Amino acid sequence: MLDIIKKRRSIRKFTAEKIGQEKINAILEAAMYAPSAANKQPWYFIVIDEPSIMKKIMEVHPHSRMFETASHGILVCGDLNLQHGDGYWLADCGAATQNILLAASSLSIGSCWLGVFPRVERMKAFKELFGLSQQVEVFSLIALGYAAENKAIPERYHPEKVFMNKWGHKKNEL
Ligand SMILES: Cc1cc2nc3c(=O)[nH]c(=O)nc-3n(C[C@H](O)[C@H](O)[C@H](O)COP(=O)(O)O)c2cc1C
Repeated sequence: MLDIIKKRRSIRKFTAEKIGQEKINAILEAAMYAPSAANKQPWYFIVIDEPSIMKKIMEVHPHSRMFETASHGILVCGDLNLQHGDGYWLADCGAATQNILLAASSLSIGSCWLGVFPRVERMKAFKELFGLSQQVEVFSLIALGYAAENKAIPERYHPEKVFMNKWGHKKNEL
């Protein structure tokens, strides 16, 4: 599992190979196994495979050029009426988004998380583009496809970010 977490990198160039439906289903299943506050599972997922919609995404999202080559997209949405309480939908949808990235990584599928929340203009544009219900908001968008770029695993473990029992305390200071 640590391997899958570490080999996941944001992929923005994809081959022409399309992802099969079985793999998309497995990724969606992983998303729905994410933890959510009070197990409310307040999420919805819109799977995108239409090039015309990908084109529209690139018109409304300023950092979405990877949709020129992506096989699929998944829009992660939260239902504000289903969440445990004000704001919990964000944590729930964040957990679902990360599960999607890690499930893709485990299937050797490349992915990239595109931020939608908290940019209100993007949230509004996507809400309109996908015709969402009034109580549903967009959290994130994920581009998926087979990687056409190689990325090394960076060093990201920084011990100075870790404290023991109290802010600022290091292990040998206790
Ligand atoms: C909340 C969030 C928003 C992001 N938005 C974008 C985006 O709009 N476009 C993009 O290309 N990458 C986006 N990324 C990906 C980050 O740039 C990427 O995760 C970061 O540079 C670290 O690289 P890595 O994912 O390869 O580890 C986003 C990531 C997060 C968590």
